[in-house]
Amino acid sequence: MPTPEAAAAEAPPEAPADCPLCPRLVAYREANQRSIPEGFNGAVASFGDEGARLCVVGLAPGRMGANRTGRPFTGDGAGVMLYDTLLKTGFARGTYEARPDDGLTLVDCMITNAVRCAPPGNKPETAEETACRPFLAARLAALPRLKVIVTLGDVSRRNVLRALGLKASAGIAGHGTEFPAGPYTVLNSYHCSRLNTNTGRLTAEMFEAVFRRARELIEV
Ligand code: URA
Repeated sequence: MPTPEAAAAEAPPEAPADCPLCPRLVAYREANQRSIPEGFNGAVASFGDEGARLCVVGLAPGRMGANRTGRPFTGDGAGVMLYDTLLKTGFARGTYEARPDDGLTLVDCMITNAVRCAPPGNKPETAEETACRPFLAARLAALPRLKVIVTLGDVSRRNVLRALGLKASAGIAGHGTEFPAGPYTVLNSYHCSRLNTNTGRLTAEMFEAVFRRARELIEV
């Protein structure tokens, strides 16, 4: 097993759109190419500022969101809350219109996913997380100014820790927790999925507080 540093050194920060690594995800992509022929239907590249001090790590593209539009969190419910919050807290500029050509830009912020291809039921398998992790490790390693990583949900948190060569158990679960991870601070949030926001588990105020804290941390 290569170390995370060696894996990151070998992998590029982005998977090719037609990444062949996970047979189940390739089959799902091919089914989506038939059912959403106008969609992107590939491994979704990260979006944002290569000089970012903040990286937001989601789970995986949603079938009708990032998988369809080709930009992380774009076109589904989770993206509405994420981009609204980034605009409010100064990490984005422009107007979010749920399409990749809406002109929205990220400021000091990069958005990526732990798994780059849409998984059935939004649930990647452990082997898929492992296969995709070198891209995540390379993505983080390729951000020279990175200071803070916001993880959205448990899968993101565990994969970020592993991508940094740490044990998945090294972090602290729960919303609003923060802990050092290598040279970075990880700030953990509940995922901004419709499930969490519709049930009130995650409110706009709770989510905004995470990004306000990220702002404080990157300014010190
Ligand atoms: N869209 C993404 O790109 N990632 C998520 O985690 C959820 C929706």
